[in-house]
Amino acid sequence: MSNKILITSALPYANGPLHFGHIAGAYLPGDCYARFQRLQGADVLYVCGSDEYGVAITLSADLVGRAPKEHVDLFHAINKQLFEKLGFSFDHYSRTTWEGHVKTTQQFFLDLLENGFIEERVTDQLYSEKENRFLADRYVIGRCPKCHYEGARGDECQKCGASYEATDLVHPHSKLTGSPLVRRPTKHWFLRFDLFKEKLNSWIKDKPWKANVLNFAQSYIDDLRPRAITRDSDWGVKVPLPGTEGKVFYVWFDAPIGYISASQEGFPDRWKEFWLDPETKLVQFIGKDNIPFHAVFFPAMLMGQNQPYKLVDELPANEFLNLEGKQFSKSDGWTIDLERFFQKFTTDQIRYYIAANAPENHDAEFSWKDFQSRCNAELLGKYGNLINRTLVFVQNHSSGIIPQRGELDSVSSAFLEQILRITEEARHAYSHFCLRKAAQCVMELAQAGNVYFDTKKPWLLAKNIETICEMQTCIELVMESIKLLALISSPIIPHTANQAWKLLGFTGTIEHARWDQIVSHNLPSGQKLPQPHVLFQRIEDEMIGPEIEQLHAKKTEVSEAPQITIDDVRKLDLRVGQILSVERVPKSKKMLKLSIALSSGTRTILSGIGEGMTDLTLLIGKKVIVVANLKPATLMGLESEGMILSADTESGIELPLLLEAPIGSCVR
Ligand code: MF3
Ligand code: ZN
Repeated sequence: MSNKILITSALPYANGPLHFGHIAGAYLPGDCYARFQRLQGADVLYVCGSDEYGVAITLSADLVGRAPKEHVDLFHAINKQLFEKLGFSFDHYSRTTWEGHVKTTQQFFLDLLENGFIEERVTDQLYSEKENRFLADRYVIGRCPKCHYEGARGDECQKCGASYEATDLVHPHSKLTGSPLVRRPTKHWFLRFDLFKEKLNSWIKDKPWKANVLNFAQSYIDDLRPRAITRDSDWGVKVPLPGTEGKVFYVWFDAPIGYISASQEGFPDRWKEFWLDPETKLVQFIGKDNIPFHAVFFPAMLMGQNQPYKLVDELPANEFLNLEGKQFSKSDGWTIDLERFFQKFTTDQIRYYIAANAPENHDAEFSWKDFQSRCNAELLGKYGNLINRTLVFVQNHSSGIIPQRGELDSVSSAFLEQILRITEEARHAYSHFCLRKAAQCVMELAQAGNVYFDTKKPWLLAKNIETICEMQTCIELVMESIKLLALISSPIIPHTANQAWKLLGFTGTIEHARWDQIVSHNLPSGQKLPQPHVLFQRIEDEMIGPEIEQLHAKKTEVSEAPQITIDDVRKLDLRVGQILSVERVPKSKKMLKLSIALSSGTRTILSGIGEGMTDLTLLIGKKVIVVANLKPATLMGLESEGMILSADTESGIELPLLLEAPIGSCVR
């Protein structure tokens, strides 16, 4: 029987730093599962990588004035590093801009074309004559065709929830430059998803997935229609046909193929053994918002190939992890600063907390207080305490070696049975994607060890020559429970589990051992133990307090400046201006020299918004808010006649968006 398991976690967009909310959904559960399956002796291939094309990327890059490649390079590196920091065990972490991804994606398209699943259609799309390009829906805003809300997005109205085509908007505009858009015919390639309906229906019917996943998928299958898989853009995988200048694949076409190209990049000699063998088990970890793509669209794309690709077998889709009652949000400062976090806390503390709190069936919550109390009461109070008290005892009463097990009395045999049962429960939980339950088993096992230790009172047994044997049996059994504890906790807290493993006198790592062997082999009596050391530090109130304060401080940052009156505000003459030209100030990383049109004439304004902007021409034509009555000042030897308002965010500068306001209008 084949025991190959191919595991994927959704490829994260490289357009911002990941936070613990993401980690809890598609990532930590995937890593724990991969680690668990390796312990089971499975032949595991676990791949992931950055999702680097699409409008989500170009839009966020444009907003901070970075070229898309520069933008994804930055966040690919940041996210990859975070995964390393969190102890992830990806066999390969790739990215969709690596050159091998192009060929695989294009071949997918060519197979679909050859097999009659692709259709060309000419449709009207919105075109910006000023920017000389078609604009994807996320770049477009206009008046909602339904509720007439003016700032409606290109795909759906955030006011009334209507969803529509960007061409349905009244007065559509470019989100970036405000320029008006016109309809223009353009050719696109549509994938006939409707032709896969029957195949998908019969394939999905015996899938053992959660009911909500199946229902959601089914509603998509019932409504399958041809969908455009290309876009007008220069950022993406090019369409491999003649005369397709300016056409690239839609990001949701190329991204899932990234799972395959990542395997090809990391394992050029072995990827086929996994992807093309029907015996392989394919397990894809995703957040719930990715269900239709993994349960319906990508499987259909695979069904249309000339090679017998594996379709997903297990689709653990998780909900979201919130922070103190609200969604994580970088722009609102509602987040956890990871650099600070890792200065104070450890990888295993956060891994344990997220696992114990995994958003499996409903949204879950990161709360600082709860984090502190679980780390202290559970990791330190139960897990750390059991190991520490036992190993200190062994040093003092057993010369630092593992004692021999004697006869078991009823309490001891019940204990042995109990710890084996919990170990089996943990195995079941891991293999059924119940990470929360697995974390519970870890603590249940630690607690069982503590209770047994307290019941047996080995410190009393050690005092009497007649009960020395019973003491030794007790300690040997407690050490067995520690061995099992190290085993079942290792997928979640691998670093700590390995420390415990070493404290039991083993050389090598748990990752090199096998679950069944660890369970069935008793500890070698006589094995010499190293000096014990503590595994966890207590988290004091003083360590948590500033984090909670910082979270709430960010929110009220504005009110921290001294109060002013309406008269103070009225002193400001804020005006809409338009950038006419822009150049860098020599020798400065961020200073730009802008000419800005106001109704009173053109001003020269120096502004420190240029850091990281590669394409300054994007600024030309943009409307900005100018403080028009600011006293001129000399900056870097140049006179500046005013200032412009911008938001300074972690990912760069953002300028406010003004569309209809004429030049010179007052802002108040
Ligand atoms: N980047 C997507 C997201 O973050 C997930 C892509 S998963 C893949 O929602 F299948 F396309 F790779
Ligand atoms: Zn609306």
